[in-house]
Amino acid sequence: MAVNKLTLLVTGANGQLGNCLRELEPIVPHKFIFTDVAELDITNAEAVRHIMESAQPAYVINCAAYTAVDKAESDKDLAKLLNATAVQILADEAQKVGAGIVHVSTDYVLKGDNPEPQNEDAPTEPQSVYGITKLQGEKFAAANYKHIIIRTSWLYSIYGNNFVKTMRRLGAEKSEIGVVADQWGSPTSAHDLAKAILVAVEKPVYGVYNFANEGVTNWAIFAEEIMRMSGLDCSIKHITTEEYPTPAKRPQYSIMNKAKFANCYGVIIAEWEHSLENVIKQLDK
Ligand SMILES: NC(=O)c1ccc[n+]([C@@H]2O[C@H](COP(=O)([O-])OP(=O)(O)OC[C@H]3O[C@@H](n4cnc5c(N)ncnc54)[C@H](OP(=O)(O)O)[C@@H]3O)[C@@H](O)[C@H]2O)c1
Repeated sequence: MAVNKLTLLVTGANGQLGNCLRELEPIVPHKFIFTDVAELDITNAEAVRHIMESAQPAYVINCAAYTAVDKAESDKDLAKLLNATAVQILADEAQKVGAGIVHVSTDYVLKGDNPEPQNEDAPTEPQSVYGITKLQGEKFAAANYKHIIIRTSWLYSIYGNNFVKTMRRLGAEKSEIGVVADQWGSPTSAHDLAKAILVAVEKPVYGVYNFANEGVTNWAIFAEEIMRMSGLDCSIKHITTEEYPTPAKRPQYSIMNKAKFANCYGVIIAEWEHSLENVIKQLDK
C-alpha cells in the first residue's frame, strides 16, 4: 500500500533520536523539517505558533528534552520548562493547526519497584525531577487528541553522549570498571525507535505506548556486552546502587511490556543484543 507523504516537524533534531530520524529521510517519502534550539526553541510559544502556521505539519515529533537526569535534581525550573511547559506549547499549537504530536517519554515515570513487565496503564510514580517533569509533559501531550506518546528506556545510538559510547571510552582507558548490577531494564537503540516512530505516524492509533528493545538486562551485563562486541579487554565489576550514589534516584526495574506497540503496528521489535551489535559495527567504522 502506498504511504501518504506527510510533513513532519522534528524538534531537538541535533540530539540522539533526532539524528536517527535524519538518517531515515532519504528512504521515506515524507517531508521533514528538522529543527533544534537554534531554529526552533520549543519554549518560545510565538516561534512555535509561527512554524506550525507556516509549515502546517501533520505531526510534530518532539525529540527535544532536558535529558541530564542527575543535573535536573538541582535545575528543576529548566527541566520543567523543557520537559513539561514546552510540551504544552507544542501540543496546543499543533492542535490549533490540526497537527498531531509524537512525544517521547521515559520509563522513569514509573516507580520502578516491580520486576514484572509494566503495561502503559501501570500506576506512575516518578522518583526524580526528570521523571516528574516528563510525566507532566505526557499529560500536556495527551491534551492534543492526535497524540502518540512513546515511553522508552536506556537510549543509545551512534550520536551524542550515551552509555555505550561512555563504556567504549572507559574500556579503552582502563582494565576494570565498576558498573551497577542491581538496576534492570532494556537498552534501546534510538535508530530502532526512530523507525518505530515513522511506522506509527503512517497509520496512527492515538495513545500511550511502550517501546524498548526486547530482552532485559542490567547495566553491568550491558557494559560487558559492549566491551565484548567492541573487542575491549576491560572487566566489569558488578557493584550495587549504594556503591554508586547519584543525585537522581533511578528505577530498580525499568521493564516495560511492548506488546501494545508491537501488536498495534505489526512490528517485530529486535532483541537488545542484536541492535547493540548494529550500533557497535557503525561506531567501529
Ligand atoms: N537518553 C535516554 O537514555 C532516554 C531514555 C528514555 C527516554 N528518553 C527520551 O527520549 C527523547 C530523546 O532523547 P535523546 O537522548 O535523543 O535526547 P538528547 O540527545 O539530549 O537531545 C535533545 C535535544 O534537544 C535539544 N534542546 C534542548 N533545549 C531545546 C529547546 N529549548 N528547543 C529545542 N531543542 C532543544 C538539545 O540541545 P542541547 O544538546 O544543545 O541541549 C538536544 O539537541 C527525550 O524525550 C528523552 O527524554 C531518553
